[in-house]
Amino acid sequence: MNRQQIPHSALYTAATWQWGGLPCADIVTPPGAANVFRLVNAYLFLYRLLNPQKISLKHNLLHRHTLIDALLQRSPCRQTIEIAAGFSPRGCMISADPACRYFEVDLPAVVALKREQLERTSAGRAILARPQFCLREGDITQLDFSAFPAVPSFVISEGIMMYFKRDQQMLIWRNIASFIKAQGGEYVFDYIPLDDEPSRSRPGQWLSQLRQRLTNAPPPFAYDERTRQDVMADLLTAGFTRVEMFDTGVLARDWSLPHAAVPTRTIIYHCRCH
Ligand SMILES: C[S@@+](CC[C@H](N)C(=O)[O-])C[C@H]1O[C@@H](n2cnc3c(N)ncnc32)[C@H](O)[C@@H]1O
Repeated sequence: MNRQQIPHSALYTAATWQWGGLPCADIVTPPGAANVFRLVNAYLFLYRLLNPQKISLKHNLLHRHTLIDALLQRSPCRQTIEIAAGFSPRGCMISADPACRYFEVDLPAVVALKREQLERTSAGRAILARPQFCLREGDITQLDFSAFPAVPSFVISEGIMMYFKRDQQMLIWRNIASFIKAQGGEYVFDYIPLDDEPSRSRPGQWLSQLRQRLTNAPPPFAYDERTRQDVMADLLTAGFTRVEMFDTGVLARDWSLPHAAVPTRTIIYHCRCH
């Protein structure tokens, strides 16, 4: 978190969408994101020298985001609820179509900064004025779906499920599944099981431990031993009846993702109840 209570991860992803040239990214990326991007990339340069098997973070994120975009574009849902939206430009892009209602949900400090950022430009103010675009404060761990219009919805939680332990994930998934069971729709999120993470070299592990000690940071992700299949089993237990898994590393070329030749590996889970 920086002093404004904005997670550095949200700033890094914002700058990644801008680097990737995604539509509307210039409008929503807050000042300061570029510095975080440069700093993290400098660290990752060193990290990847020590861990040559590791995947480029910015490419991995870009494939994750654009694969979710592609799933959304294939969906018949006319309402999207993007939880933990951060500075994602997706809502600004999709809500250009007046038939597509878009809700973005995040914690209060992030919502406030995104609104402030949009208010800085005339293009941003025009997006805020759209009746079909709505920025809302909300916490994914206790989201009240009755506050959203009761219509089939495409629910997204991108870049967040890895921060929760399994029991917290299950509560979140049960809540989303019961909304989708009642209203129809789809749910998409990303999660990379430990099993799918390329291994780290011994010097790479030392570098990570050193960084952890110097910055006094908590462990970045709540990893456990589940495989993709175990995660899928949990989603079925939570109430979804159909789960598909997409691996960006396998699909990047076929789905024409940007920088498709760069190897990545993010697993996207696409869940339905019907
Ligand atoms: C890594 S960022 C990803 C942002 C965005 N989804 C993207 O991919 O650009 C994680 C986001 O989750 C938000 N977040 C963290 N805890 C949350 C919670 N309990 N409820 C809602 N959002 C949360 C953070 O504020 C941050 O914007």
